[in-house]
Amino acid sequence: MKRVTFAITGASGAIYALRTLRALLMQAVQVDLIVSKFGWMLLREEGGFDGKQEVFPDFLADRYGEAVKNGTCCLHAFGDLAATVSSGSAASHGMVVVPCSMKTLSGIARGASSNLIERAADVMLKERRPLILVPRETPMNLIHLKNMVSATEAGAVMVPAMPAFYQRPETFEDLADFIAGRILSLLGIEHALFPPWEGHLQM
Ligand SMILES: Cc1cc2nc3c(=O)[nH]c(=O)nc-3n(C[C@H](O)[C@H](O)[C@H](O)COP(=O)(O)O)c2cc1C
Repeated sequence: MKRVTFAITGASGAIYALRTLRALLMQAVQVDLIVSKFGWMLLREEGGFDGKQEVFPDFLADRYGEAVKNGTCCLHAFGDLAATVSSGSAASHGMVVVPCSMKTLSGIARGASSNLIERAADVMLKERRPLILVPRETPMNLIHLKNMVSATEAGAVMVPAMPAFYQRPETFEDLADFIAGRILSLLGIEHALFPPWEGHLQM
């Protein structure tokens, strides 16, 4: 069973987090979930989750069906710097931050480790494991761009919240599944979230 650390921060795009979580859990991934304070606000405002934090896995099962119970979802407190995922000895295959705010991007790029998301990301970089960031902001200033360069130089992979349209999306879920699929591919997890590009253009 693959184990993935999954962080949600307070940038717009709760649907990217929800669809990626759904896909990972359906593929029987063991998810260590960390949500920032603003991430919880995002899940309430954009994601329709207004329950207590500990029932969030039940919310996923209610919304997406029993198949998400193929995997497991273990919630860690944002401020718990002693959680398992704060150590390189935790057997995590990789980490995703989706969506990734400019504030969290900055903390990761500087190696701040001032909360569990920043610390778990720092651990991924030092252990040379995959760290996938899904930044969302527009327009971006030079500080945002430089932070993306610093994080990339340290080993992170940027997957900007920029869905493609060649797969002819019909719903918001289709758009978000494009990003979810790119993330799963980078983690080496199979999926059928969108058909692969077959190279045929009608001229
Ligand atoms: C409604 C709303 C939307 C926001 N959208 C974004 C966004 O798209 N990108 C971003 O970088 N910050 C956004 N922010 C600001 C972040 O939530 C804020 O910087 C926060 O401190 C991020 O903290 P976190 O990274 O710990 O979640 C938004 C804030 C609010 C209230």
